[in-house]
Amino acid sequence: MRVVALVNQKGGSGKSTLAACLAVAAQEAGERVFLIDMDPQKSLLKWGHRRQDKNMPVEAVMAAKLEAAIAALARGRVTLVIVDTPATDSPAADAAMRAADLCLIPARPTIFDIWASEATRGKLKTLSKDYAFVLNQCPPLQESQRVSDGAAAVEAMGGLLRPFVVARVDYQEAAREGMGVTEIDTEGKAAEEVRHLWSSLKRRLSRLKHAEKGARRAA
Ligand SMILES: Nc1ncnc2c1ncn2[C@@H]1O[C@H](COP(=O)(O)OP(=O)(O)OP(=O)(O)O)[C@@H](O)[C@H]1O
Ligand SMILES: [Mg+2]
Repeated sequence: MRVVALVNQKGGSGKSTLAACLAVAAQEAGERVFLIDMDPQKSLLKWGHRRQDKNMPVEAVMAAKLEAAIAALARGRVTLVIVDTPATDSPAADAAMRAADLCLIPARPTIFDIWASEATRGKLKTLSKDYAFVLNQCPPLQESQRVSDGAAAVEAMGGLLRPFVVARVDYQEAAREGMGVTEIDTEGKAAEEVRHLWSSLKRRLSRLKHAEKGARRAA
């Protein structure tokens, strides 16, 4: 079982949107997914209520209970836990970072948003946590100068998961319906990019697994 946390102290960067869409894409690819919502805003929990999917539970968990909740899930059949966090430097975000195998930092490709993400990145470095940025709400022209500059900045800060996620109404429609973009328009561009993002994330998670095995062998 793997634990992925979506973190960024900057509000509105797309943590909840990507948590939901990646969860659905991962489920479609065969993962048994469990979602944890640590944000008092409860966006993901509300999305889950609308969704009513018994194969993808969404639960609110407090910081103090996260470790035990994840340990309990690890004893069951779940293969992927996705944790959504609040946009604050809070015990909840802290606990999620500590519990995660990999943290994803969604950020809009603007300099203010990237600067604001640095605090989160700094915390993850202090915790020696594996992390990757995801550029979200990018303008449709993928290689615009603004997006390229944003990509270069976050790459310099420690890694970028591709592809860029473009600003598209499908993300907003899907959220409203308790769905993922891969369900709202299965052949649409948003669906394609989220499937691609899940593949990149999966590859990244399997690299972690190999690195762990290597470290165990060396020990
Ligand atoms: N790729 C996208 N295209 C279009 N709209 C998007 C996209 N990603 C996110 N949004 C919209 O941007 C807003 C903020 O997204 P979201 O709530 O997922 O961010 P968040 O980081 O979870 O915010 P918070 O920090 O408040 O929890 C929402 O209205 C969402 O629908
Ligand atoms: Mg949110």
